[in-house]
Amino acid sequence: MNHDKISIACPDDWHLHLRDGAALATTVPHSARCFRRAIVMPNLKPPVTSVAAAGEYRQRIVRAIPPGGSFEPLMTLYLTDSLPIAEIERAVREPWLAGVKYYPAGATTNSESGVTAIEKVFPVLERMQELDLPLLLHGEVNDAEVDIFDREAVFIDRILQPLCERFPRLRMVLEHITTRQAAQFVSEADARIAATITVHHLLFHRGDMLAGGIRPHLYCLPILKRDVHREALRTAATSGNPRFFLGTDSAPHPVNEKESACGCAGIYTAPAALELYAEVFEEEQALDRLEAFAAFHGADFYGRERNGARIELVRESWTAPARYEFGGDEVIPIRAGENIRWKLAGNGP
Ligand code: DOR
Ligand code: ZN
Repeated sequence: MNHDKISIACPDDWHLHLRDGAALATTVPHSARCFRRAIVMPNLKPPVTSVAAAGEYRQRIVRAIPPGGSFEPLMTLYLTDSLPIAEIERAVREPWLAGVKYYPAGATTNSESGVTAIEKVFPVLERMQELDLPLLLHGEVNDAEVDIFDREAVFIDRILQPLCERFPRLRMVLEHITTRQAAQFVSEADARIAATITVHHLLFHRGDMLAGGIRPHLYCLPILKRDVHREALRTAATSGNPRFFLGTDSAPHPVNEKESACGCAGIYTAPAALELYAEVFEEEQALDRLEAFAAFHGADFYGRERNGARIELVRESWTAPARYEFGGDEVIPIRAGENIRWKLAGNGP
């Protein structure tokens, strides 16, 4: 099939880091240009651990939406060892509160306040199951004994599988999956288990990051894996299975914190994410499945209406900017200074 134009229902981003403060002036317009809704991660400093704090953060995001834009931030609570059950009860009363985010303590950026032992949060998970509030998982064990490339697969065996058994009705999203094992686990699990897939994990494997020089702007967590895993993710994303949907995990850091002796994890993909998903789907001869992956599956899983408005992508090459202003600093986006084959019709970045 040869397309020069695709029209799809407006997509949503079911996993996004917008940061806070002056950075919102950059991140919010980049996401709002094509995504109608986004699930916003709570790993700020300090983390978003109450419904009140999530509501205030949401207001700051809303104020950064460009005039005339339509963008609905759906917020998350950061799960700690001591999150009160009352907070879950408050959360389900707010239509803009989409779920609770589980970070294993120390597993990634600003996860120091995360969960130190899963048993500690069983009472909270019990209440979430009763009230049908989804749990969003950073699926990696933080265990020095486990090789960094194995941390997702080990998480599935040690944490996720037992959680599925203990909480048979809890809805869970395994975020930003990176392995064949994760794709297989989600495909075989029941319908309350889903996964988001980033565009960078569809585009790159670990060789892209490490062969011929180290590329800090491709460093993210979970870390890029072998090419066979990327292939399995491509198969899952383009399969039409409603349990896989779009979540960019766009995660900007100032350039000096990426290009450093100890660089931060995270890739800033929002300014070109949708266009790059289109590239991947085209390479897989599955452009006709992009709409469901980007606009239907996530909305259906989260029990929200599908977007009515539509957007158009055209086959027109453009060059991604080398950098963007970022809260008084600069951030280097994905494909910086390189060509991107698809372009959003109308208002590009
Ligand atoms: O690469 C990542 N960046 N992975 C995460 O889990 C967190 C994120 C961030 O907040 O920078
Ligand atoms: Zn993330």
